[in-house]
Amino acid sequence: MTNCAEPVDPTSTHRDKVDFTGVQWKSVEWTNICLLYLRACESASPHSILGDEFAARDVARIDYDFDRIHRVVRPEVNKYMVALRSAQFDALATDYLDRHPDAVVLHLGCGLHSRAMRLARPGTPWFDVDLPDVIALRRRLYAETGTYRMIGSSVTEPEWIEDLPRGGPVLILAEGLLMYITPGEVTDLLHRLLDRFDTGELIADFLSPWGPRMSKVLTKGLIKWGTHDGSEINRWEPRLRLAGDSPIMAGYHQIQPAPQRLLYRTQFAIRPIRNYDRLFRYAF
Ligand SMILES: C[S@@+](CC[C@H](N)C(=O)[O-])C[C@H]1O[C@@H](n2cnc3c(N)ncnc32)[C@H](O)[C@@H]1O
Repeated sequence: MTNCAEPVDPTSTHRDKVDFTGVQWKSVEWTNICLLYLRACESASPHSILGDEFAARDVARIDYDFDRIHRVVRPEVNKYMVALRSAQFDALATDYLDRHPDAVVLHLGCGLHSRAMRLARPGTPWFDVDLPDVIALRRRLYAETGTYRMIGSSVTEPEWIEDLPRGGPVLILAEGLLMYITPGEVTDLLHRLLDRFDTGELIADFLSPWGPRMSKVLTKGLIKWGTHDGSEINRWEPRLRLAGDSPIMAGYHQIQPAPQRLLYRTQFAIRPIRNYDRLFRYAF
């Protein structure tokens, strides 16, 4: 096998192929296909950390050059980073939904993530939000239901929030998102969300200040913001209370193959690498 795509299950109701071949190489949509592919590869591992069976199913349905993606993203090493981060988000989200079964979920910068399909309880109002082109692609994989909605908008626009219910409790998830918008845009977004919802939690990961510095040289300034300091956005939006944080690699001991576990353990021992991407949880 040259990539992690499994043959489509002929008994599945999702066996129809989806043509993504028009997606431009290195576009934002392409990045999301790469992340989906890494989750599919990790979930095919015998001792998967994330267990995202939807990712494997989606990759099997999508018509795209996954052999080429496979060569670029090097899943044998990189699938663990993606799985470790997503698994931490899943664990914290599950914990919140256990404590607040009546919560609304906002999944900001959702990409092609299947989190809604995996974690939403029957009746959970769940809003997946991303840029219009990403949501257009996503709509080819997933359908809306009475409780599941997709919103194609930049999170920096004020209008999309008007479509949401008010009050709360709300669970706001922002995985791999806030580093792409400026501190001013993050502040405005938080003000708007906390004006709309009285109570909830925000779970988000932040890159270290090295993120924007390196991005200036390597990725034309795509990364706009980074911080080690979880209290920074407390100061921007004082209604948020920092409730916990951890490096996204914290669960590396779950990696089963010894060489990859050793690699991640070595990286974890180096402080700037360990703290390059950290997950923060805020209550309000
Ligand atoms: C690194 S990807 C992460 C995607 C997904 N959370 C995951 O973990 O697979 C970043 C996502 O943020 C989205 N994004 C970036 N800027 C955005 C904005 N201003 N509004 C909404 N989504 C945005 C991108 O389109 C992309 O889907």
